[in-house]
Amino acid sequence: MQAASADLKAPLLLAIIVVLPLIVVAASVVKERQQRRSVAVAMTQGDPSQAPPIFRRYGCGGCHVIPGVPGADGKVGGPLVDLRERVYLGGVVENTADNLINWIVSPQRFSERSAMPATGITEPEARHLAAYLYAQ
Ligand code: HEC
Repeated sequence: MQAASADLKAPLLLAIIVVLPLIVVAASVVKERQQRRSVAVAMTQGDPSQAPPIFRRYGCGGCHVIPGVPGADGKVGGPLVDLRERVYLGGVVENTADNLINWIVSPQRFSERSAMPATGITEPEARHLAAYLYAQ
């Protein structure tokens, strides 16, 4: 009887020591992601969940690596990673939500010789992409 309960104690203790911190860490990761997302939505008035098909429609992934968008592995421009931490966009303009949206619609507005083309994307569509990029 005593042996049996000792047998049970060790795995139970182990489960508590290992699993509990994992749950706490996972919960804080989820919370942080939700906060980033709501800040991104407030900044851009865009909807990140609408972004992946728009990235595909305008061929962004042919030129950029975009995390979370399958097949977006282009190397023509830099990877669109950690955009919220950048100081400048395209090396020429301050990284604000308005500038990011306008850059996506028309890079030449800021950088005449930029190799990034105006893709024909509309401003409301660019808002969704900006929301997605800032939410990462
Ligand atoms: C033909 C290739 C090409 C396509 C298509 C393209 N880009 Fe770019 N993009 C570039 C290049 C090259 C740069 C770097 C330009 C520069 O610095 O002037 C760039 C820069 C950027 C930047 C600034 C990033 C930084 O690191 O400062 C953003 C944001 C961006 N692109 C988003 C997009 C989005 C969103 C799309 C789709 C609507 C897109 N791009 C389509 C080539 C492309």
